[in-house]
Amino acid sequence: MCGIVGYLGNKNTKEILLDGLKELEYRGYDSAGIAVLQNNNFSNYKAVGKLINLEEKTKDFVTNSFAVGIGHTRWATHGKPTELNAHPHLGESSYVVHNGIIENYVSLKNELQSDGVKFLSQTDTEVIVHQFEKNLITAKDTFEAFSQTISQLQGAYAILLVTKGEDETIFFAKHGSPMLMGVNEENEKFFASSDTPLIGHAKEVNYFEDGDYGYVSKNEIIIYSKDKELQKPNFQTISTNRLSSQKNGYRFFMEKEIYEQSDVVSDTLMGRLGENEINFNEIDSTLFDDINEIKLCACGTSYHSALSASYMFERYAKIRCCVEIASEFRYRDPLMCKDTLFVVISQSGETADTLETLKMAKKEGLKTLVICNVDNSSMVRLADACILTRAGIEKGVASTKAFATQVSVFWMLSLYVAKLRDAMDANQLAKQIHLLREIPSSLKISDAIHEKIKRLSKRYLHGHGFFFIGRDIFFPLALEGALKLKEISYLHAEGYPSGEMKHGPIALADPELFTIALLPQHLLYEKSKSNVEELSARDSTICAISAIEFDKADDFIQINECQDYMLEFFEMMIVVQLLSLEISVRLGNDVDMPRNLAKSVTVE
Ligand code: M6R
Repeated sequence: MCGIVGYLGNKNTKEILLDGLKELEYRGYDSAGIAVLQNNNFSNYKAVGKLINLEEKTKDFVTNSFAVGIGHTRWATHGKPTELNAHPHLGESSYVVHNGIIENYVSLKNELQSDGVKFLSQTDTEVIVHQFEKNLITAKDTFEAFSQTISQLQGAYAILLVTKGEDETIFFAKHGSPMLMGVNEENEKFFASSDTPLIGHAKEVNYFEDGDYGYVSKNEIIIYSKDKELQKPNFQTISTNRLSSQKNGYRFFMEKEIYEQSDVVSDTLMGRLGENEINFNEIDSTLFDDINEIKLCACGTSYHSALSASYMFERYAKIRCCVEIASEFRYRDPLMCKDTLFVVISQSGETADTLETLKMAKKEGLKTLVICNVDNSSMVRLADACILTRAGIEKGVASTKAFATQVSVFWMLSLYVAKLRDAMDANQLAKQIHLLREIPSSLKISDAIHEKIKRLSKRYLHGHGFFFIGRDIFFPLALEGALKLKEISYLHAEGYPSGEMKHGPIALADPELFTIALLPQHLLYEKSKSNVEELSARDSTICAISAIEFDKADDFIQINECQDYMLEFFEMMIVVQLLSLEISVRLGNDVDMPRNLAKSVTVE
């Protein structure tokens, strides 16, 4: 949540900060701001709404000599998205940007207010800059004041601070929110919440660990660990490929990402499919020794892929599997047993609730595995083992290709575990591997189906709600379809197991209740069909998705005939993603940056 950037160097500071924020805008877009310290003078600009408003405000602002600058794009947690609440926040002569939540801000604020400090915003962040300036009065130097301030904060943060007394320095601290620093041979220094803003600028980057704090100046990089030990930066080379983060002619990143799924899943499968076995060279099979249960924990779309995984682990690998919503798990005093493999799933690897459950499992001594899309993310660095999903950068807030690659990884992993546990014979395994190779074809999108969905979408712009229904592994897909639709169309949608409708929800059935029915030919077709017929008999408007013609539906979207229900799963996934996209487009919504959301939820 929120994106922060920082720059120290001789180039065009304003452009570098704004370009960096553009790359991070998906993390939050309620407001944005920059503060630049040049020749001991501050320039500060803030604007409500998308970055374009800040670009407009800063169009006459020129930075052409050495400067230090910080910038922020916000997803509001404390206080409305107003200009006063936008970062950077100002003290007397310092500015701060922050991503995360300062949990003890109320007590710090009360104390500062009783000292006579006036607060301008409703944010938790503003306490940081005032506390720093208070500490400055008694500290022996600026860094001591900054270090003291950090030690007084509780919560999650990535912080950058600049101050007039030190006009060639950026102070930083990281705990629980992502941040990295990049350098190049021109001695420029860059900070950002993720690596994309640094591509093309920095040659090497240092990913900060939780508890790191310090400062950079023209010639110094000072990093202290949480134990107050001076550290050497741990530089790694950064990719130089920014191409994948552009839209390539598609209307939206989400659309591009839906179309990319066939290719990215090929990457996910690459090198992992043997003749009669699945290879995950990145994990050691001993990870599964003495394991009798798999516990999966995640949020949102990643939670839905975890639910899909639970069907596959139990069916193929014959291992007990349970799935938990991370925000629930962390506060319910869960029992954790040593014979459980704890698996977290996350596109970003930074989701605060999921990260916390990983820490809990580690603390209890469980073996841990992360299924993640972002290498070097917090979860990847923390877990005992990691499988990367290889989806590439996902920019649309509504997750699509991350889901497809997660489900593909889980399909492979369940077979990998099946082999380890002798739960599947060689023929069945070979057949499954053959099916896995077919996923990329099932994810190819024909013009005809996209056109059909585009046309159909005009009939689904109103009504009093949507039910997405499916059985078995198509139930998590129904949940995912409903989540996609509500995220970007702002229409009410629910995912339900088809067989559950008659236990209450069917009371809502009428022509204005739209049912999106997932009817796989190869899994419980007759049972699912009867459930849809029950809704049809009550005059619910039905849009059926199936390979088999279905005459009880008002609308019908035909997928290709497939050899197996898992391939039907991927075909139907494309349909529900495109349907949400086209409904959202017709409603005139911002598909890539829907209201109230952000790509990476690094606050709880
Ligand atoms: O990065 P993560 O996979 O941990 O994110 C979890 C959810 O915040 C995320 O899937 C969210 O639900 C998406 N907006 C769904 O499209």
